[in-house]
Amino acid sequence: MKILFAASEIYPLIKTGGLADVAGALPVALRKKGHDVKLIMPAYQGILEKVAPIQKSINLGNPFGVGDLLLLETHIPENDTPIWLLQCQALYEREDGPYVDKNGIDFEDNHIRFAALSWATATLALHGHLMNWQADILHLNDWQTGFAAAYLESWKVEHIPVVTTVHNLRYNGSFDMNQFSAMHLSPELLNMHGMEFYGRFSGLKAGLVYANAVTTVSPTYAKEILTPEYGDGLDGALRAMQDRLVGILNGVDYNQWSPEKDTLIPHNYDIDTLSQKQANKLALLQENGLSEDLNQPVFGVVSRLTEQKGLDLVLQVMPALLEKGARLVVLGSGDKYLESQYLELQNNYPNQVSVRIGYFEDYSHRLQAGIDALLIPSRFEPCGLTQLYALKYGTLPIVRQTGGLADTVFEDGERANGFVFKEASAKALQAAMERSIECFHDTNRWQEKQKNAMSYDYSWDAVTDQWISLYESLIN
Ligand code: ADP
Ligand code: GLC
Repeated sequence: MKILFAASEIYPLIKTGGLADVAGALPVALRKKGHDVKLIMPAYQGILEKVAPIQKSINLGNPFGVGDLLLLETHIPENDTPIWLLQCQALYEREDGPYVDKNGIDFEDNHIRFAALSWATATLALHGHLMNWQADILHLNDWQTGFAAAYLESWKVEHIPVVTTVHNLRYNGSFDMNQFSAMHLSPELLNMHGMEFYGRFSGLKAGLVYANAVTTVSPTYAKEILTPEYGDGLDGALRAMQDRLVGILNGVDYNQWSPEKDTLIPHNYDIDTLSQKQANKLALLQENGLSEDLNQPVFGVVSRLTEQKGLDLVLQVMPALLEKGARLVVLGSGDKYLESQYLELQNNYPNQVSVRIGYFEDYSHRLQAGIDALLIPSRFEPCGLTQLYALKYGTLPIVRQTGGLADTVFEDGERANGFVFKEASAKALQAAMERSIECFHDTNRWQEKQKNAMSYDYSWDAVTDQWISLYESLIN
């Protein structure tokens, strides 16, 4: 099959969260199974230095009046995956991240930036002759590419089947109606069964309602989003399309995330050499100038600091646990208030708490290898990848039972591999952390969980067939 895969971030070219990991790995897994996948993403600043030399380029014209859109054909050197980069200086060449400026504020032309990406994607899906490659399936991801489904609908043409994956319903890409005319979409789409969303227009809703199939990134989240509590205003629309909605769990790229071959951690180890994990723990504590006691647990966080992730709860419970000798290593960035609260915690407990604000891929590997338990008290979690990475590193996740966390982390039973709590409260988190401390001191029980954690296969290979069946069912 020929699959055109569109995303706004793709690892290793650019990454702000799990979407990049998925967009960087699922296409590789599909290609391994013999399918022909091509990616499309904007040529953000600095991207051209990370890809192979451009093989071909075409000019798609200036449909949005902000400058010509150029499509550059190349591939990702690390894994040879073909990619088309959409170049437009006025839209994409900015020093900041892909979506926000340095103060964390959304760029005010985001609707145009991702309309252009979506328009180019839809154009390629329709006119394969432009690049001598006609896709059989178009796979969109989140709101940034959801508008592509709206262009295809707007143009009223026969087109290839469209699959839209929701990685996070909270980011619905909705904009004020007075920006709609700049999108060059048919106003006919603005109705409650279309892309209209509470008096605004939404890229995610477009991606949902105009797709032939909708997927999300775990079975549990696929059920949760049908309820008002998790549906973020889209639960009604999602209930109406239940028969074409399915949850497929994300996988892990074990080439990037395996303690036995990870070149970014100081000491490699596997399930039979778990004592080497202690060496990583010591190295992490030393790197951060924390107390080096190996007989007490070290908790960790690697996360975007947002409301979603529930990390305000960690701040509430930490003082009591720190008084009992626990330590905490945090890597994260996002909400400025949370950042400052974590830095204050570090100031109050300099020997026990280390907080690094920013985005550091290499350090995230050392952290996962060096901590004993990873805290993920999310209020909602579509899939979550950090718990999957933790498991492979024998680091036990402490999670709230929601979304993909509920599908992958178990406190009891045959697959017991972590600690789980239900209620989104400081009290429930604290109780789970206390259970984990007790277990930590029962070495046999802890190691049994570590072995369960490390031996379960969450690779892409295990789920790629589900993707292939879905694509095939749409083509036939
Ligand atoms: P989300 O996509 O909601 O942020 P995921 O758990 O799916 O959550 O994926 C997060 C990804 O981003 C993981 O690869 C994680 O290691 C990485 N990550 C998050 N915050 C940071 C950070 N500050 N520095 C480095 N990597 C980070
Ligand atoms: C989103 C979700 C996260 C998921 C990731 C990749 O950012 O918040 O749970 O793992 O996308 O699908």
